[in-house]
Amino acid sequence: MMEEQALTNIQQLTQVIRERRTTRSYIDRPVTTETVMELLKAASEKIPSDWEDPNARFILVSSQQAKEKVVSKMMEALQEQTLYRLMPKKLNQSFASKILSIPTYLVVVQKTGQDAIKNDRDYAAISAMLHSYSLLAWERGIGLVWNTEAFMQKQVFMNALELEDNERIVCTLFMGYNDRVPKTGKRTAAEKKVTFI
Ligand SMILES: Cc1cc2nc3c(=O)[nH]c(=O)nc-3n(C[C@H](O)[C@H](O)[C@H](O)COP(=O)(O)O)c2cc1C
Repeated sequence: MMEEQALTNIQQLTQVIRERRTTRSYIDRPVTTETVMELLKAASEKIPSDWEDPNARFILVSSQQAKEKVVSKMMEALQEQTLYRLMPKKLNQSFASKILSIPTYLVVVQKTGQDAIKNDRDYAAISAMLHSYSLLAWERGIGLVWNTEAFMQKQVFMNALELEDNERIVCTLFMGYNDRVPKTGKRTAAEKKVTFI
């Protein structure tokens, strides 16, 4: 009976890994602070216990007021890019509204130090943790975009989030309960990337 149960759990896990997609269309339902904290806690527990502290912290942006502040700074940062500067004002506005309609943002911050190897290891550990987060979220019907666009590295955006000098933004997870789930894109076959020696 226990073996049967274990197999079922593994099958469920495999299914979540296979089915998870980056989603960009969400229903109008908030992702509560409690849910984000539960997912973060569960994902953090997957970092190897003998690992040094990966120096991550998180900024949860979920109130309308906070989202408006973040999106306005994001739009300011995007104006430093020619593409957005040349874009008609209306298009910029509709882009901002689209981002504002996303239920919750989680900004992932990494504290960096002098040791470049430790910084790289921390980045890898944080990424592994975020991957667990995205799978755990998926299991509850929550999808996300792992966003790393250049606006996050602009001073105006980092200042708005009150980052310290030694901190950088790893990514922002834009998330919500899934509405539409896109089909998977084409991938390079693993065989093409392996050297057999
Ligand atoms: C490290 C990393 C950085 C990413 N950065 C961006 C990004 O800046 N903008 C974006 O739209 N998606 C970003 N994505 C999401 C990818 O576009 C997405 O994973 C890809 O479309 C594959 O889709 P899938 O997650 O459904 O397999 C990023 C994903 C990862 C893992």
